[in-house]
Amino acid sequence: MISQTPYEAIGGEETIRKLVNAFYLRVAKDPLLRPIFPEDLTLTTQKQFMFLTQFLGGEPLYSNVYGHPMMRARHMRFQITPKRAERWLALMKEAMDEIGMEGPAREYMYQRLIQVAHHMVNSPDDET
Ligand code: HEM
Repeated sequence: MISQTPYEAIGGEETIRKLVNAFYLRVAKDPLLRPIFPEDLTLTTQKQFMFLTQFLGGEPLYSNVYGHPMMRARHMRFQITPKRAERWLALMKEAMDEIGMEGPAREYMYQRLIQVAHHMVNSPDDET
């Protein structure tokens, strides 16, 4: 049997495209996250599409353009509190539900996102 990357298992480009669109539509309406994101989420959505592609074993689209991900460093200029990390994950779960992702590949991806989201936390909750 030929083994699949997580990228292939979740449905590749089409799934990631749908996921980031559904996710940032939610970010745009979220009172806790909206204030730290840019007004126009077009580039943010595109960067996340590129990042998640490589994160799951697809082509290194993000690094090809922006260099080493260094995600924690790139998030340092924003107040990422535990509450914001939990909200980010909750919106990601809703987006996954909306586009109909399910099964072990979704679970694997979500577990890895939990780890990254917790790693991004750089401020205590009481600053929000
Ligand atoms: C960029 C917030 C977690 C991946 C950003 C930006 C904000 C943000 C405000 C800047 C948007 C922009 O300027 O376009 C958060 C918050 C998180 C979180 C509140 C909660 C924990 C994550 C996670 C990932 C991620 C878990 C990856 C799995 C990215 C990427 C960018 C980004 C790829 C674009 C970086 C760049 O400018 O090149 N995030 N983020 N973020 N975030 Fe997050």
